[in-house]
Amino acid sequence: MSETNNWKIEKDDNNIAWLHFDTPDASANLLAQAAIKELNDIIKDFENDLPRAVIILSDKKDSFIFGADIKEFTALENKEQALAFMHKGHDLMNRLEALSCPTVSMIHGTCLGGGTELSLACDYIVASDDKKTRIGLPEIKLGIHPGYGGTARSIERCGPLAAMNMMLTGRALTSRAAKKIKLIDESVPVRQLKAAAQAFALKAPERKPLPLLARLSNHSLLRPLVAWQMRKQVASKAKKEHYPAPYSLIDLWLKYADDKKQMLQQEAIAVASLATTDTARNLVRVFFLQEKLKSQGKKADFKVQHVHVIGGGIMGGDIASWCAIQGYSVTVQDQSPERLAQTLKHAQYSFGKKFKRDRRAIRDASDRLLADHRGVGVSRADIIIEAIFEDRDVKRSLYESIEPQMKEHAILATNTSSIKLEDLSSCLKKPGRLVGLHFFNPVALMPLVEIIRGNETDEKVMQQALAFAKNISKLPLAVKSSPGFLVNRILMPYLLEAVTMVDEGIAPEVIDRAATDFGMPMGPIELADTVGLDICKSVANILSEALGMPLPENLKNLSDKKLGKKTGEGFYKYKNNKPLKNKKVSCSNRQQVQDRLVLRLLNEATACLREGIVDNSDLIDAGVIFGTGFAPFRGGPLEYIKSTGVEKLSTTLESLASEYSDRFSKDEGWSLLSSD
Ligand code: NAI
Repeated sequence: MSETNNWKIEKDDNNIAWLHFDTPDASANLLAQAAIKELNDIIKDFENDLPRAVIILSDKKDSFIFGADIKEFTALENKEQALAFMHKGHDLMNRLEALSCPTVSMIHGTCLGGGTELSLACDYIVASDDKKTRIGLPEIKLGIHPGYGGTARSIERCGPLAAMNMMLTGRALTSRAAKKIKLIDESVPVRQLKAAAQAFALKAPERKPLPLLARLSNHSLLRPLVAWQMRKQVASKAKKEHYPAPYSLIDLWLKYADDKKQMLQQEAIAVASLATTDTARNLVRVFFLQEKLKSQGKKADFKVQHVHVIGGGIMGGDIASWCAIQGYSVTVQDQSPERLAQTLKHAQYSFGKKFKRDRRAIRDASDRLLADHRGVGVSRADIIIEAIFEDRDVKRSLYESIEPQMKEHAILATNTSSIKLEDLSSCLKKPGRLVGLHFFNPVALMPLVEIIRGNETDEKVMQQALAFAKNISKLPLAVKSSPGFLVNRILMPYLLEAVTMVDEGIAPEVIDRAATDFGMPMGPIELADTVGLDICKSVANILSEALGMPLPENLKNLSDKKLGKKTGEGFYKYKNNKPLKNKKVSCSNRQQVQDRLVLRLLNEATACLREGIVDNSDLIDAGVIFGTGFAPFRGGPLEYIKSTGVEKLSTTLESLASEYSDRFSKDEGWSLLSSD
C-alpha cells in the first residue's frame, strides 16, 4: 500500500488498484486543488505501470466526495486565475477518462459537484442504494455550472433532457433515481457494493447506447427548440441579469453539444467567467451563511425522545407534522377535538407531500404523530412547543397548568410572534426554561427558525433550543427578545411602504413588479395577501406601537371579506388561488417605487445592527435571506449596502426623507457600515 496526503493506493490479487480518498483532518472529502494534484500524479504513474483496473472509493463514513473546496473558489480574484483553476480539474478528469484500463467510481453517501464529475470521468459508476447516498451536480446554486467536465459527460451518459434537468435544478438524486436516468450503472445494497465495483472492473461490460429520444434531443436540428423550452422554464424562476449561470449552461449545450472536446474547453471558459461575477460571490456567501446558522445549533447535545406540541392550528399542526417527518415521536394537543381531527388530516397531506409514493415512510411518520386531547404527552416530553392563540393571559394560564407535570429538565418553547417572553415567563416557577421558537409560515417551506432569548432564558436552554431546531433540519438563528424579533421587524416597514403606495393610488402590480425586479421572490402586496391582511395588521399594530410606524389607511379599515388569498380577495382578486393581475398598468417613476420599498427595509436592517438584535451583520443578512427570501444573489441587505455604497444609498434615503417624511430618516446604524 502506498499513500499521499489524500489518497491511499491498495493493490489486490487481481492487480486492481483501489484508490481510497481520505481528506486529512476532515469529516468529509473535498476535491481541493491538493487532492486533484495528487490524484493526477497517481494516474500519471498508472499510465506507465498500468493496473488491471482502478476503483475509486472513500474512506469516510457515509460520504463519498462533497465536491470542490468552496473556500478555494472564493480566493479567485479574476477570470485568468479562475481559468487556470478550472484547467487543473480538467487535466485530471481528461487523464482519468483516457486511462486505458477500466475505471470504476464506487459511491456510498453524499457525492456532489466535483465528486460526481470525477465519477463521470470513470468508465463505470456503482452506488449503494442506502438512504444517505445522494448524487448530484448542485453548482447552479452557487452561481456557476459544472466546470470539471460534468456538463459534457453527464449529457453523454444520461442524454440532454435528464442531465440538463439535473444541472439546472441542482437537485441531488437517490441512487435509484440516478440509475433510472443512467447517471450510474448499478445501485446495490451497501454489503454488495465492493463486489459490484469489482465485477465491473474485471468484466468491463459494454455500455448500451442511449435511447433514441435522448439521442434525438441532442441533434443539432432539434436543439434550438429544446433549448428555447428550457430557457422559458428557467426564465419563469430566475432572471438572466440576476442569475446568468443557467442561461450560460443552456447556451453551452446548444452551441457545442456536437463536439465534446470543444464543449469541455468552453465549459471551463464559461465557468471561469461565471465564478467571478457578483452573483456567484454572493451565492457562495449565502452558502457560508447557511453553514454559520447550522453551526449555531452545534454547541449543545440535546437528546430529545419526545416532542409535545400544544395548539393544533395553522402553526402548531404543521410544527407537529414537521417534527414527525424528522423522525421524532410527537403528541399534539388542542382544546378542540374537532380541530385535532383536522390537524391529523392535514398531517397526512404533509406526509404525502414530503414522501410522495413512499408508503412506508408515510406510515412511519403517521405512527409517530399522536393526537392527545388531554395533554398526556406533557409529562413525557423533553421539549414542549406552545402554539396556541396569540393571547398573553391564555398562554400564561396554560403554562401554570402544565409546569407541574413537566419533566425536571424539559424546556418550554413558545411560537409567539409578538408577546414579550418576559411577560410569559414570569408566571413560571422556573422562568429560565422558556425560550422562543419562532417558526415561519408555511413551516415545511421556510428554512429559518428564530430562537428568541428572553431576559430570563437560561443559556443552556437557549443552546438546547438552537440544537433542536438544527436537528429538525431548520436553520436556527439566535435573536434578542424585542418587538418583531429580526425578520418581521425588517420586513414590516417594507410591507407598510408598499401598502402606503397603494393608498396613494399606485397600482399593486407596479409595486410588486418593482420588488421582483430587485430580486424578491414575490412582491410585497401579493405577500401581504398570502399571509393574510388580518395577520399583517396585527403584527403591524404591535410594531407600529413599539417602533413608531404609522399604519396605512388601507390596513386600518379591513373588511372581513377581503383578508387576502384565503377569502378570495385582498388587494388582488384570486382565481384558482392565483392573483388576477392587470399587465397593462404602468407608472412614471418605477425606480422611486423600488427605492422606497428597498430603502425602508435596508434602513430597518441597520437599526437591528445598531441594537444588536442578532450577534453580527452576517447573521442579519442570513436571517433576512432565509426568513424572507431577500434576493440571495445580492448577498443580504447589509452586504447589498456595502457593495452598492453607503454614500450612494444614503443620498437616495435623504432625498426620500425630504419628499416623504421622517419614516425615511437615516438610522444611526448606517455609520457602522462601510463600503468595500
Ligand atoms: P390558530 O388559531 O390557527 O391555532 C391556535 C390553536 O390553538 C387552535 O386550534 C386552538 O384551538 C388552540 N388553542 C387555543 N388555546 C388553547 C389551549 N389553552 N390549549 C390547547 N389548545 C389551545 O393560530 P396560529 O396561527 O397557528 O398561531 C399560533 C401561534 O403561532 C400564535 O402565538 C401566533 O402568534 C404564532 N405564529 C403564527 C404565525 C402565522 O402565520 N399564523 C407565524 C408565526 C407565529
